[in-house]
Amino acid sequence: MLMKLRATKQIYDLVVSKIEFREKSGVLHDDTLQMLLDSEADHFMIVGFIMGLLIAGARSTGTTASWLITFLGCHPEWRTKARTEVQSLLASHSYPITSSFAPSAASPLSSIPLAAWESSAPILDALIRETLRIAQPHVAMRRNQGPPITIGGKTLPTGGFAIYPFSDVHLNAELYPDPLTFDPARPVQKDDFAYIGWGGGRVNCLGTRLAKLEMKLIAAMFLLNFEFHIVDAEGSPADPHPQPNWNDTLMCKPANGSFFLDYKRREDASL
Ligand code: HEM
Repeated sequence: MLMKLRATKQIYDLVVSKIEFREKSGVLHDDTLQMLLDSEADHFMIVGFIMGLLIAGARSTGTTASWLITFLGCHPEWRTKARTEVQSLLASHSYPITSSFAPSAASPLSSIPLAAWESSAPILDALIRETLRIAQPHVAMRRNQGPPITIGGKTLPTGGFAIYPFSDVHLNAELYPDPLTFDPARPVQKDDFAYIGWGGGRVNCLGTRLAKLEMKLIAAMFLLNFEFHIVDAEGSPADPHPQPNWNDTLMCKPANGSFFLDYKRREDASL
């Protein structure tokens, strides 16, 4: 706990030193920090904003990537489909590795253009979509800054908070039959608010493209390099898959020690 406290203080000091450097330089920039400084936000607020943004993005991406690998590890048919998809992306965009470009685990994947990752990877898209639906325990929070308003028959006073748990739609059996079962082949709901994995209405995730790309790359590297599956505490294949625990507010993590990732490097690892 003390080490975490110390590390947090170090990050705080690091960000403050950058703020002070900016202030002392007197040079104006066109960026978020400048906007915060112009609005005369204090250091504590600016650091809170920057750390909050970094942590929110890293936390969601990391936990979703973990669940993505977990679900892939429980469903051999989806592992095969996803691996085939990555191999076909590679085949369509392969390039010779020259001596000036040292091969690394990621280098052949980097030959696949962003547009292909974004528009020609429907299997990975469906996997990410279903992972977010079932294992991201987000709760949206809004504060009423205006006059009292009535929502759904309840009055929200000025300064009051409205809280909306994503489980309300994502685990709704009328929209998603057998909602806790991982099934990327589910029909995509047409109603805008039936799926809010990346937000909805006026607040949509600004990091969606970055997060999706990161998760696709992680999944691709793992699928191409390792054979893996999820096992229970006795080492038997996890069937059914681990149930995301929505009472674990940030990660949906099941009880410690209940499931493990069993993996070994593929003999035909191509990367
Ligand atoms: C798997 C990863 C991620 C998921 C599932 C996710 C999900 C979400 C959701 C559901 C919201 C809306 C929250 C609400 O309505 O209260 C949101 C907002 C936001 N996200 Fe993400 N996010 C992810 C990664 C990231 C990353 C990597 C960044 C930045 C690099 C980011 C930046 C933001 C920002 C700035 C907002 C607020 C947008 C606004 O207020 O208009 N997110 N995200």
